[in-house]
Amino acid sequence: MLSNLKNVVALITGGSSGLGKSTAEYLIKQGCKGVVIFDLPTSKGKQVASELGKNCLFAPGDVRNVDDINQTLDLIKKEFNQLNALINCAGISVAYKTYNFHKNVAHSLEDFEKVLMVNTLGTFNVTRLAVGLMAQNKSQSINLSHTNNASKDFQPINPQIIYKQNYNKKPQPSSNLMTNINRHFSQQISDNGIHHEAKETNTEKMENTDAKIVEEKGVVIMTSASAALDYNGQSGQVAFAASKAAVAGMTIPLARDFSDNGIRVCTIAPGLYLSYPSKLKASRSVLRQRWQTIN
Ligand SMILES: NC(=O)c1ccc[n+]([C@@H]2O[C@H](COP(=O)([O-])OP(=O)(O)OC[C@H]3O[C@@H](n4cnc5c(N)ncnc54)[C@H](O)[C@@H]3O)[C@@H](O)[C@H]2O)c1
Repeated sequence: MLSNLKNVVALITGGSSGLGKSTAEYLIKQGCKGVVIFDLPTSKGKQVASELGKNCLFAPGDVRNVDDINQTLDLIKKEFNQLNALINCAGISVAYKTYNFHKNVAHSLEDFEKVLMVNTLGTFNVTRLAVGLMAQNKSQSINLSHTNNASKDFQPINPQIIYKQNYNKKPQPSSNLMTNINRHFSQQISDNGIHHEAKETNTEKMENTDAKIVEEKGVVIMTSASAALDYNGQSGQVAFAASKAAVAGMTIPLARDFSDNGIRVCTIAPGLYLSYPSKLKASRSVLRQRWQTIN
């Protein structure tokens, strides 16, 4: 699917800033059929969408709000009659130690809850509703050998690391390969320290390795964070790290939930970055303020 972006319609949450905005710009530049930026009504989504041209629409809303998401999916159905990719970028963070021993103040529950609601519940909320529309797509063939050449760091299938069927539900023969792909994508995050025990070679599945074409309906991409993995979470990041660890943890069960319907799931876990030079100055002062808050 991603080898032919011209037929792709993508929904990007948090698409008016940072990673989401860059993704929208990239997809439009690649000639995507449609990009829908879903972001807060107070965001710059409208301006960003109009700058990106007629194939880009802005849908104002909150990832926690069911009606906002359903309205956006209705808009996508009406305008494009398909959804192929959901890219979950909307996210927030706070920076507080669990207990500030200088000020004798505990981390507020409201802050902890808000971060989990936006980052974890919000990601789940959009995903659970969007895949309903994605599943209505006709399957598209993707050529795995082509995708393999595209990036050796992101190979969708590698026979040497196909996962063992070590859970109760056995996939149907027609969906075996798709299921394996989902497992491999899930492994992008597994390799960062989660579910290592699930990685085994399955000789039973090796017979599938000759196949180069699989049927796909769509892909869900979620954004975790390196702070959630491999002991990277810093002091003051407890809420953010917990919310993003939950996103990472959803990857494999979601992939298994959707695998029989031709929908892949993968999760990225970026480290700290500043997306735009214009953010640099502001971010430095924000970081300074946050550092003072947590210490
Ligand atoms: N910037 C980093 O260093 C970093 C590191 C690791 C992970 N991440 C994650 O990457 C993603 C993008 O981060 P960024 O820094 O590029 O983005 P950003 O902070 O520039 O933009 C996030 C966007 O999400 C939107 N948003 C916030 N709450 C929302 C809600 N309730 N409903 C809808 N939209 C909402 C904001 O309006 C904003 O446009 C986030 O999930 C973030 O947690 C960022």
